[in-house]
Amino acid sequence: MMILAFPDYLSQAQRLAARLDVPLAEVVLHHFPDGESLIRLPPSLPEHVIVCRSLNQPNDKLIELLLCATTARELGAKRLTLVTPYLSYMRQDIANQPGEAVSQRIVGKLLAELFDDVLTVDPHLHRISSLTQAIPIKNAISLTAADEIGVFLKRQFKHALLLGPDSESKQWVAAIAENIGFDYAIAQKNRLGDKQVEMTLPDGDFCSKSVIIIDDMASTGRTIAKAAGLLQAAGSKDIYAVVTHALFCGDAYAHILKSGVKTIWSTDSIDHPSSCIKLDALLVDAIRAITR
Ligand code: R5P
Repeated sequence: MMILAFPDYLSQAQRLAARLDVPLAEVVLHHFPDGESLIRLPPSLPEHVIVCRSLNQPNDKLIELLLCATTARELGAKRLTLVTPYLSYMRQDIANQPGEAVSQRIVGKLLAELFDDVLTVDPHLHRISSLTQAIPIKNAISLTAADEIGVFLKRQFKHALLLGPDSESKQWVAAIAENIGFDYAIAQKNRLGDKQVEMTLPDGDFCSKSVIIIDDMASTGRTIAKAAGLLQAAGSKDIYAVVTHALFCGDAYAHILKSGVKTIWSTDSIDHPSSCIKLDALLVDAIRAITR
């Protein structure tokens, strides 16, 4: 077995390789002036290769995965596993208007054609219950960072209220709250545009303890910032946030911190200064389970 790591996921992949006690090689990547990518892999590969890369900013990365997986097969890999803690293109699961691409199905099919196993963490599945419906292979495995986030929060706070900013976040917020015995509440959100959200907080006391906003991802940061603004208006003094996937597009991180959130933490599914919740133990257990 060998780990092939793309440069943007190198430190996380090194931790996986150390835990699994397997060699790691870095995918050599070059971007030509016109935007084309060149990738280079070690000239000979073992039977089982684990390719590691999160798919934030996905368009170039998907092409590079296609080049990588195809080349890895040519160089001798018989089994290809993709470890992609952040898996993009999962949100568009229906055509909202005639003619729209159902990206989840199309990207899922591409990954199923390239890889034997796909492992990811807290994918944004809305209308389907299993990742195999999006990526039609037996080992399309959806893990959750709920335990890791719960353990992290329990070390930081004796008591706190967890707040999910929308109904979709309930799955993650409820799981974390139940694991560590914290209360939780769920707000209602309506997205009006990429950077515009409306939100209503549920009834409740938001003043007497710390409130931690929990979501699967922060993209523009507007969801978390809106929740923080409403919490401040409701009297909260101690507001924090945790996301699994730190996409933080454009000014998102600064915008969240300006909105009254004291600290935002994230998992290391994507490398970012906030990424202090490590996922390597979770991923290694899953890799061991499929290779047993
Ligand atoms: C959507 O339902 C997701 O769970 C997140 O709430 C959303 O993607 C966050 O996006 P943004 O940071 O752009 O508000």
